[in-house]
Amino acid sequence: MDKLVVRGGQPLIGDLHVSGSKNTALPLMAIGLLTDGPVTINHIPDLKDISTFRKVIEVTGTTVIGSPEEHRLVINAASLDRPEAPYELVKRMRASFYMLGALLGRTGQARVSLPGGCDWGPRPVDLHIEGMKSLGATVELDAGYVVARANGGRLSGGRVRFEPSSVGATINVLLGAVLAKGESVLENAAIEPDVVECCQMLRLMGAQIDGIGTRTLHVQGVDRLEPVTYTNCPDRIELGTFMIAAAISGVPGKPITIHHANPEHLGTAFLESFTRTGAGLIINGDKIQVTAPEELRPVSIRTDVYPGFPTDLQAQWTVLLAKAVGNSKVHETIYPDRFKHIPELHRMGVNAIVVGDEAVIEGGKRIQGTSVMSTDLRASVSLVLAGMIAEGETQVLRVYHLDRGYERVEEKLANAGIDIKRVRYDEWADPD
Ligand code: EPZ
Repeated sequence: MDKLVVRGGQPLIGDLHVSGSKNTALPLMAIGLLTDGPVTINHIPDLKDISTFRKVIEVTGTTVIGSPEEHRLVINAASLDRPEAPYELVKRMRASFYMLGALLGRTGQARVSLPGGCDWGPRPVDLHIEGMKSLGATVELDAGYVVARANGGRLSGGRVRFEPSSVGATINVLLGAVLAKGESVLENAAIEPDVVECCQMLRLMGAQIDGIGTRTLHVQGVDRLEPVTYTNCPDRIELGTFMIAAAISGVPGKPITIHHANPEHLGTAFLESFTRTGAGLIINGDKIQVTAPEELRPVSIRTDVYPGFPTDLQAQWTVLLAKAVGNSKVHETIYPDRFKHIPELHRMGVNAIVVGDEAVIEGGKRIQGTSVMSTDLRASVSLVLAGMIAEGETQVLRVYHLDRGYERVEEKLANAGIDIKRVRYDEWADPD
């Protein structure tokens, strides 16, 4: 296994580069199954989750060409003949559940493993399943698998309401609806950038979707979609993570430039909260400059759907609040249990407690390096951030979680002045 070893107290200087978005690339890849010609997707990040989803797609008989270094994949589903997503792969990554909508839309049938729980608690898929039923599928559960069939081999379309708003369910239903026989209306649809990007790619392929970027999507199903070349957007969560890194580890007065950014995708709540901390922020096209303040102000946040504060930046924000002098609160409304990073940060001296769906942080206390355990993707990167501002050495164990969603993060941070390295270790070795 690998761990990241961070020696704290080094300033972040210079430039950081944002990779392509993981959470957008995955459904864009699923869209590649909806036509029988080659679909090229550029700016794909080189990540574990992408290689896992590639395998999921290949199980169906679809060919996928491209190497991680190229950051480009060509998906050709001309010979798709096995509409299945096996447990062995779905258990590694929940987003594999996008196969339900993609396979139903393309072939009228799907056998997709239920994903089960996730690293920080329950994450239901009821809205995905109800959505497929509303589009005209019959759905049965068979030994841990969702088995869905469209009557007559093609979905009919229908009215679907998402309560609560769900990124994954909106995209999954969209994947089914674009090739349905009739019209579909998606109410309380998610408006996260991932959904908008999917709609834009589908439109280029010939899908008829109205209301893109609003809470109601009208989809008129078409008989076929055409192959396309599409460029994925930059990763907004990596951008937000880098902005936080710059605010907590930058040198006051010396800006850090973050390249290939799309700050609009972060939503207003994050950008407003960020500037309220006292950090400097200048946006210039796809470059943004962040300047660390002399002293960070504690800014309480409440996660919410877009354009609210992203839950995927909550753990990283907690580290910023640990550095800011004063008390603050983090209210998690999307995943009330998503606080696995707090006990690990506690081991580093961060004074934070969780009460229900809130964490209360007393910032400005001494933070000390030690060994901490990654528990999920965003929690892991928050521990790296904490290591950057801690005294001494921090060892972030089990970084395979982090590798799912951050492309060569240690290289990027090391190039910007941080003392960080990747080391192999044996987790079960006896202590000396
Ligand atoms: C996506 O997950 C992201 N994953 C998550 O990113 C992100 O945290 C989340 O959206 C929220 O922004 C990917 O894009 C692959 P949801 P998703 O359905 O689509 C409830 C990361 O770190 N819900 O929008 O699964 C659910 O419990 C991650 O990269 C139902 O009740 O999230 C939650 O409270 C992890 N029933 C809310 O909706 C359902 O059937 C929003 O979840 C589905 C969801």
